[in-house]
Amino acid sequence: MSVDFVILAAGNSSRMRSTTPKFFHTIAGKPVIRYIIETAHECNPKDIIVVTRDELKNNVNFNDITVTIQPNPLGTADAVRYALDALSSEYTIIVCGDMPLISAEHLRNLANNSSENALIAMTLPLELQHMPYGRVVLNNGKFEKIVEYKNASDAEKSIALANTGVYKIKTELLKKYIPLIEKNTVSGEFYLTDIFKFITDVEVIQSQDYEAFHGINTMQDLAKAEAFVQSKLRQQFMANGVKLIAPETVYFSHDTIIENDVVIEPNVIIGNNVKIGAGSRIYAFSHIQDCIIAQNVEIGPFARIRGNSRFADGSAIGNFVEVKGSEFGMKTKAKHLTYIGDTTIGEHTNIGAGTITCNYDGVKKHKTTVGDNVFVGSNTTLISPITVNDGAIIGAGSTITEDIPANTLAIARKRQTNYPNGAEKVWNKKKGKSV
Ligand code: UD1
Ligand code: CA
Repeated sequence: MSVDFVILAAGNSSRMRSTTPKFFHTIAGKPVIRYIIETAHECNPKDIIVVTRDELKNNVNFNDITVTIQPNPLGTADAVRYALDALSSEYTIIVCGDMPLISAEHLRNLANNSSENALIAMTLPLELQHMPYGRVVLNNGKFEKIVEYKNASDAEKSIALANTGVYKIKTELLKKYIPLIEKNTVSGEFYLTDIFKFITDVEVIQSQDYEAFHGINTMQDLAKAEAFVQSKLRQQFMANGVKLIAPETVYFSHDTIIENDVVIEPNVIIGNNVKIGAGSRIYAFSHIQDCIIAQNVEIGPFARIRGNSRFADGSAIGNFVEVKGSEFGMKTKAKHLTYIGDTTIGEHTNIGAGTITCNYDGVKKHKTTVGDNVFVGSNTTLISPITVNDGAIIGAGSTITEDIPANTLAIARKRQTNYPNGAEKVWNKKKGKSV
């Protein structure tokens, strides 16, 4: 059976009260709209058509689907109208773009339903019965109609069977009836649910899995979806041998890759594009994104990593260290209070406490290169572009402005002068005593 998917994503997102439409807010680092697109792909439809608005279409990756534009958000039926020309399969599955948690299993189940038209309805648990979902009215167990919450009587509002907004409709019928739907007099919108005034031969698939049909309309809904996805990711990582000491305090991204025997301490946030190799440990309160961490690496506590950084086996960064766009070679360490930006460091090098790479001159970023077996003394400032070659030693407190040849000792600070009895003189002066 051939099926096309229509994903509705042209609404106003007014309930989000955000300048960013709900589809581009992220859950575990992935835009809301990408969840349903990827789930639709798992069902191998003939085509996936996303109905969106012109100003929205460039904000997200829509390269793998067909995009059509609804000029004004006049309601869900109006949105489907703009997809009609693109439909070429016998059946069409319509889903809302704001339902990221729906699984491919639910969609396949709908696609494979033997009746020509079907919809998924969910039985609301008591605590969700106040939610403004459209209600599915049955008569002797058979589908009668859908009433939108805004238009429902009190008796209809108390029906616990809610419309999920997920439908399979024979394409021929969709093309015939969508243009006949009239504007709702209460809201001024064209309701897709009014198509069931024309199509009444509808099978209602009832589901208890209300979490799967959780829609994103408000910031509260978004946070709930985030919690759900994070909880799933934590369970998956632990099942694969990642040790989480306080799982509920660790946040992952949809694309995080972690090998087994990695330990992640409490309060760690992992942004997009992170891979962590076996035996590594991420200490508490670290924020890491966009990096590849090899095996037996130590990160943190209180570390920040970003901008495509790489850490080879056995390397380490410690507390209050920020690394941006840099590479650490095998067993290279920067254990305390350091900023390393746009830097390549070789193997077995030690970066002393308080070392700062000055990679930005106010206009451009410049590179720092540090070789193998280098010892960078504490509180060193490396003014880039600069190269420190293999085996060099930098005396603590140096401001390095020139390249250092291999195996060279560089000290760039003023020599110290000791004044015998000088301390007493200063103390007396401070206390106003004559000398
Ligand atoms: C809709 C259903 C409701 C169902 C609920 C499930 C209708 C009229 N109501 O209500 O029965 O219980 O979903 O979550 O369909 N959209 C457009 N263009 C528009 C308007 C909306 O593309 O002009 C998109 C939205 O971006 C969204 C989807 O359609 O992805 C649903 O719209 P929304 O306003 O969220 O409908 P609900 O009030 O949730
Ligand atoms: Ca909705």
